[in-house]
Amino acid sequence: MPRITFIEHDGTAHQVDAANGQSLMRAAVDNGVPGIDADCGGECACATCHVYVEPDWLARTGQRSEMEQSMLGFAAVAQDNSRLSCQITVTDALDGLVVRMPDGQH
Ligand code: FES
Repeated sequence: MPRITFIEHDGTAHQVDAANGQSLMRAAVDNGVPGIDADCGGECACATCHVYVEPDWLARTGQRSEMEQSMLGFAAVAQDNSRLSCQITVTDALDGLVVRMPDGQH
């Protein structure tokens, strides 16, 4: 199972074992990671699952869709490495992935 590390804004790290095929958001929620509220349930419509992907991993997490890009446009704290974690599908290629949560997501 791919192991993913979520790091809260205060530096608290949470390592979770994610299942292939589930979204990064679902892996966080199912494992009680704070800061990923996922209010819309993964429909790319809320941006409460926002994460910053560590730069080394950006190529493997893929490109934002147009809709995701548009949602991130509403996030004041969006950066070049911002993604909506509900739009990233877990695969073995993401084993070891590290993402960080923005300030304000607790
Ligand atoms: S869970 Fe709502 S945009 Fe990802």
